[in-house]
Amino acid sequence: MRRVVFCAGQTDPARWVEGLARLLPEFEVEVFDPRASGRSDYAVVWAPPAALFDTETSLKAIFNLGAGIDALMRMPNLPKDIPVVRLGDAGMSVQMAEYVCHAVIRHTRELDLFESASRSGHWTFRKPTIRSHYPVGIMGLGAIGARVAQALVDFEYPVRGWSRTEKNLPGVTCYSGAAGLDPFLRSTRILVCVLPLTPETDSILNRENLAKLIEDAYLINVARGAHLVDADLLALLESGQLAGATLDVFREEPLPADHPFWSHPQIVMTPHISARTLRDASLAQIAGKIEQLERGLPIEGIVDRRCGY
Ligand code: NAP
Ligand code: GLV
Repeated sequence: MRRVVFCAGQTDPARWVEGLARLLPEFEVEVFDPRASGRSDYAVVWAPPAALFDTETSLKAIFNLGAGIDALMRMPNLPKDIPVVRLGDAGMSVQMAEYVCHAVIRHTRELDLFESASRSGHWTFRKPTIRSHYPVGIMGLGAIGARVAQALVDFEYPVRGWSRTEKNLPGVTCYSGAAGLDPFLRSTRILVCVLPLTPETDSILNRENLAKLIEDAYLINVARGAHLVDADLLALLESGQLAGATLDVFREEPLPADHPFWSHPQIVMTPHISARTLRDASLAQIAGKIEQLERGLPIEGIVDRRCGY
């Protein structure tokens, strides 16, 4: 019988395995066991141990239970000659659009000020803020970034986007490639990072780039912690170049207890929840792709190893 092995770190595997077995009745679906024989055809993984690829040596494809495959790509024994498949949307894009719009609106409508005023019993008046003063720039216009851009366009913010290859999205001023980065940053006041983490994008949220944003800028990082140089963010907040940041991802997760972000008054943080992997949508997508592969048909979402995403 053909086999699928499931290996997703801290996730309780029972309902995932059950769900996959229901969708793929002709497959045996099992939780990874390093003592087992290792004859699986497909692996469904999130941050697996190296032992998985030492044991499972007859895999035909590896399915990542997330959009970002940076952790997998760092594994020295990741098989080089079989497809690695990432989740494509699977319910994450709308969650991310919701999260980013919330962060943008909270900042531009000064909701934190109104919240603290109401807590201290003040009926506060402030002049209205003007949307056109807050151009939002989205780094990464893929499955998630494009959906975020669309939501911000619907709220009538001026929206810019930056990607590796050229894009044309309704209502979005698009920039691309190394040459497009500078004009993109200089026309952005609220910067949203939804890039994959690759050697090209590692530490891209650094002092030099962030200092190019329109004055009194705001950063929203929902991609990976290693995109951001933490010390540069702190320095730019201190100097007033940046007004604040919303961060969902961190270099080390959970964020260490003594990290200065915890107590920083201009930083809003969440524990990597901006777009969760949803079980039903993810399993349906993966099972559908396994069936396609079994029938010799092409599938979407295969990672391009040269680009790293
Ligand atoms: P995707 O569909 O692969 O899109 C990636 C986008 O980034 C594409 O537009 C791509 O350009 C662009 N890009 C990649 N390298 C670039 C470079 N060097 N310069 C400029 N643009 C570059 O990925 P996705 O599904 O939207 O997900 C994006 C990332 O979000 C994931 O990799 C993950 O790290 C993060 N994420 C976080 C959470 C969370 O909960 N915090 C949840 C899901 C995903 P092209 O369009 O030209 O290829
Ligand atoms: C979550 O961070 C993902 O990459 O799906």
